[in-house]
Amino acid sequence: MSSSSAPVKPPSDIHRAWWKESSVYQIWPASFKDSNDDGVGDIPGIISKLDYIRDLGVDIVWLCPSYKSPQVDMGYDIADYYSIAEEYGTVADVEKLIKGCHDRGMKLLMDLVVNHTSDQHEWFKKSRSSKDSEFRDWYVWKPPRYDENGNRQPPNNWVSHFQGNAWEYDEPTGEYYLHLYAVEQPDLNWEKPAVRKAVHDIVRFWLDKGANGFRMDVINFISKDQGFPDAPVQDKDTPWQWGDQYYANGPRLHEYLQEIGNILKEYDTFSVGEMPFVKDVDEVLKAVRYDRNEINMIFNFEHVDIDHGPYGNKFKPGNWKLTDLKSFFERWQAFMYNNGGWNALYWENHDQPRSIDRYVNAPQSLRSAAGKMLATVLALHAGSPFIYQGQEIGMGNVPIEWGMEEYKDIDCLNHWNLLLKSKDSNAEAQTSARKEYQKKSRDNARTPVQWSAGPNGGFTGPDIKPWMSVNPEYTRVNATDQVKDPNSLYHYWASVLKSRKEYLDIFVYGNYELVDRGNQEVYAYTRAYSNSKALVLANWTDQELSWDAAAQKVNNVKEVLLDTYGPASAAQGRFSGTQWTLRPFEAAVFLLE
Ligand code: GLC
Ligand code: CA
Repeated sequence: MSSSSAPVKPPSDIHRAWWKESSVYQIWPASFKDSNDDGVGDIPGIISKLDYIRDLGVDIVWLCPSYKSPQVDMGYDIADYYSIAEEYGTVADVEKLIKGCHDRGMKLLMDLVVNHTSDQHEWFKKSRSSKDSEFRDWYVWKPPRYDENGNRQPPNNWVSHFQGNAWEYDEPTGEYYLHLYAVEQPDLNWEKPAVRKAVHDIVRFWLDKGANGFRMDVINFISKDQGFPDAPVQDKDTPWQWGDQYYANGPRLHEYLQEIGNILKEYDTFSVGEMPFVKDVDEVLKAVRYDRNEINMIFNFEHVDIDHGPYGNKFKPGNWKLTDLKSFFERWQAFMYNNGGWNALYWENHDQPRSIDRYVNAPQSLRSAAGKMLATVLALHAGSPFIYQGQEIGMGNVPIEWGMEEYKDIDCLNHWNLLLKSKDSNAEAQTSARKEYQKKSRDNARTPVQWSAGPNGGFTGPDIKPWMSVNPEYTRVNATDQVKDPNSLYHYWASVLKSRKEYLDIFVYGNYELVDRGNQEVYAYTRAYSNSKALVLANWTDQELSWDAAAQKVNNVKEVLLDTYGPASAAQGRFSGTQWTLRPFEAAVFLLE
């Protein structure tokens, strides 16, 4: 890394694209902003905050599912892809939102949820009505199996992502249907050409309305092994096992993605696919390599599954070290860069707890510092950064004192109800499960956005009971205070995104190299493009520490670009010599000679 090191040659086929340069702000409508005092966020509420979003410096707004839905899984159970949930607004409101984004130079991303529908969708109602329905094979129906005692059993042993078995018996026609998620979320049968055609029509409908692309929900699950075999038993405590090898990145995935990709190409879109269970990077590359015409990038799960317990059980305690996190990033960063792929960068979304509580353990006085450090590390990786509502002000997990009545998420509640019924349920098991919910339940991400220090955090009217309680931290963590304070996390996020754009070659198109690999307290990496190079350095602890710059051959700081403790100008000169002092959770970014 010293000035004598050879310039980094960018791959000769480095591919530039607007979507690589973009960053995204994610909105989960129920909890963003309530405009009509019914306690539920809505689209007019989002429109009222578009300036706030633009001022962060993001390029794209991703709107989580807002379609008509019984809301069993908060909109990921869609009953009609062509209408908007009444509580959120109307199709005309979405058109206004699209225009509001475009007027401010931003784009709008819709959520495409097509691995499954709601059981209230007309297609499923018809499918379930009779074995002869023309919609029967739009979903996955199978006859029961019988055990040696003649008892009826599901067609295979796959577990649902929301706990329990993944098949539901339907009395009237005597068959089971597959639901990888809730019972109310039957999986579509993508083998059927009419299903794919119906999805293509939905895609065109929203693109024709001006939407600029899609986030695609569990998109790598759409092609299943048609043998539907039993999964090998890993977890002996339950009859239900992960069958992911039979449906994650299944046999016809790329064919299906290319069919959608052909449409997306006509509109010059942004697309990101959610891909749980991906272990085979080559498989991912087929989906995201820029010349494959499938999707632009994926959300992978390695870094967010880091604290899960055995067998991917997220409500069991799990341990991790900083070096684990670093090695996940290193692998994906290098792999995508060297092979023409692209990363989606995220700490948070509507399914994950708050990053400030997951990845660091900061005392109250250092939470903002920790948030700034996490922002720096994430957004200057190679990839497109995603910021989830509230992350820009450092919202935290729900309070540990909250009782189960405050939790609303089906995943968490299913787990709790199964535990209460199980023979292992005792006070100790319940306390331990509740501890894990407070750490990992999706509810942590779903409390209303804290807009002000006023009643209900300004999310809804002062006398209204919001659909989910506001996190009481709103008196000290809220958007109004942070917009006013130039040293806030909100403004820091804006400065990170600005630097990323200012040094586009380095931070978007440069390569990534991990520095000081074995260090459990510091995360450091360089980004380099041709003769330009930057170092991102972060103290992951709540203690001041000294970093041996000489040992890492860093002796050539040209300029401090960013420092989490104040203006970069104030930090010039602090980082010279052989040993550098890093304050608690301090991160800094340097241009090197
Ligand atoms: C994805 C969504 C999640 C949803 C699930 C089923 O993981 O992000 O919120 O519950 O798919 O659609
Ligand atoms: Ca409302």
